[in-house]
Amino acid sequence: MFEIESVSVKSKKELYEYLSTQVENLLAEERDRIANCANFCSLLFYTLPDINWMGFYFLRDKQLLVGPFQGKPACVRIAMGQGVCGMVAAKRETLIVPNVHEFSGHIACDTASNSEMVLPVVEDQRLIAVLDIDSPVYNRFDTQDQKGMERLLTLLMSRTDM
Ligand code: SME
Repeated sequence: MFEIESVSVKSKKELYEYLSTQVENLLAEERDRIANCANFCSLLFYTLPDINWMGFYFLRDKQLLVGPFQGKPACVRIAMGQGVCGMVAAKRETLIVPNVHEFSGHIACDTASNSEMVLPVVEDQRLIAVLDIDSPVYNRFDTQDQKGMERLLTLLMSRTDM
């Protein structure tokens, strides 16, 4: 049985180091994409502070289709180039949005969201999905979060048949 422990850390660096170990342990015995992405979201949703939604949108039929997530029910399909997620999928580059209300075309799934970070999930130059993380706190995400999350995604992909 895996339990999400409450964690007390001094810095984001320490937090992401701790999470790397947790992700390794959590995914040690399974390679299924749905199972691993679901547990990955749950672990991060319940460990990272100030998060109100976290989840995957998988590329399916040239659109993004919602996958495993934690948070309120979300929009199901997003077109390439649409919203923050669609833009990240089209450009394959992480986007940090400090204030979603100032982002033209932002798709509001949960009115509590005020800032957002979306990362592309790319394997062998193929876009698999995007990972969307929303926060009720303005300016919640910085480059340390980006680097930390990119490392965790690399770990997830190495432990999963994506
Ligand atoms: N805000 C996203 C849509 C997904 S929901 O936040 C879960 C966007 O603008 O693409």
